[in-house]
Amino acid sequence: MKVLVIGNGGREHAIAWKMGLSPLVSKIYCAPGNGGTHLENKCVNVNLETIDELLNFAKEENIDLTVVGPEAKLVEGIVDVFKENGLKIFGPSKYAAELEGSKAFSKAFMKKYGVKTAAYEVFDKVEEALDYSKKCDYPVVVKADGLAAGKGVVICNTQKEAEDTLKEFMINDVFKGSGKKVVMEEFLDGVEASILSVTDGNVIIPFISAKDHKQIFDEDKGPNTGGMGAIVPNPYCTESVLEEFNETMLKPTLYGIKEENMDYCGVIFFGLMITKKGTYLLEYNVRMGDPETQAVLLLLESDLTEIILNAVNGKLKETEIKWKKGSSCCVVLASKGYPSNYETGKIINIKGAENKVFIAGAKYEEDSLKTSGGRVMSIVSTGNTLDEAIKNTYADIKNVNFDGMYCRKDIGTLYR
Ligand code: AMP
Ligand code: GLY
Repeated sequence: MKVLVIGNGGREHAIAWKMGLSPLVSKIYCAPGNGGTHLENKCVNVNLETIDELLNFAKEENIDLTVVGPEAKLVEGIVDVFKENGLKIFGPSKYAAELEGSKAFSKAFMKKYGVKTAAYEVFDKVEEALDYSKKCDYPVVVKADGLAAGKGVVICNTQKEAEDTLKEFMINDVFKGSGKKVVMEEFLDGVEASILSVTDGNVIIPFISAKDHKQIFDEDKGPNTGGMGAIVPNPYCTESVLEEFNETMLKPTLYGIKEENMDYCGVIFFGLMITKKGTYLLEYNVRMGDPETQAVLLLLESDLTEIILNAVNGKLKETEIKWKKGSSCCVVLASKGYPSNYETGKIINIKGAENKVFIAGAKYEEDSLKTSGGRVMSIVSTGNTLDEAIKNTYADIKNVNFDGMYCRKDIGTLYR
């Protein structure tokens, strides 16, 4: 079977690696892929960007299955286009992808189907949002409605901060349309959990839980990033949290997907906030998380390709997903200066690594692997316990290097 994996991050390297382990797969095209997929077993990078280019390639090469990594192409409607052309693709339709593409849409969906989430208001007129900022409780969370590359959420502690943020989003239009409408949401104090799940529209099967570490500095300090590391399973996801998740989030979400006739066959990622007063759904993502995927897939015992094929063929109900015992820990190695400005083109040495290295912002130039992005790569290892997994990953970091390499030293440390 020939597979096309769309995307160029560490998540896509992990997906391509895991799918390549399947005896069902003969070749994987990664579009555009990166310096890691370039060398991965069965993988070939192809330089394709637009939906048209991807569609023509999939038709010409008789691709049997396409898997979409990032959200932007899903929100753009790649799944509808591929399906209209009779091609098998794993991902939600354009309409269903609005669950990530529009915060106002997803909050309205949660409200309609009784999914437990924070209280909120939606505004598309800046005067009304500013009025509300004068009377709401603080902190308040201001969210750009549309996609904003992970930068569209600001926790505002004061009215002045809310006012500045609203002006940036709605008047200065920093997100080029995505922040013209905003959601203003009750602040929830707690710890986050990522539950990646797979659905064929008939059932949702949750994966093992994960914990992302979003801030750039140790002790969860500094600005948010795409994610600096992840541990699996999430130690805060106790049985009672998972039970609450199942009853107040998973079940009503599945009911809503069916009621709205959403064509949804793909990943649904629940972003949870576990608080003292219960667990809430912060957001849906319609794709896998990065770096959660890297840590989750290392513990997946089952064949990922088989799971995806069963979903695409509407047979997910018959699928049992098996997990390895123990824990995994993924630490992201980033360029100095990330998430602000950083330099690229630094030569990377990974030859000494003993564990799995997933490449993200790095590519081959003149036969050497060089940095090309902020999050350059991640190292992931497993262990019988979380402590062992953490120890294994950190021990391996000294075996790789590039000029200016930065990582958090405390991935897996639980602060509360
Ligand atoms: P979102 O894209 O909605 O998940 O927001 C991005 C990040 O902002 C989340 O992962 C949280 O760290 C934070 N966040 C979002 N909504 C809230 C909230 N209501 N209370 C506290 N933190 C939040
Ligand atoms: N690591 C969080 C995300 O992928 O959205």
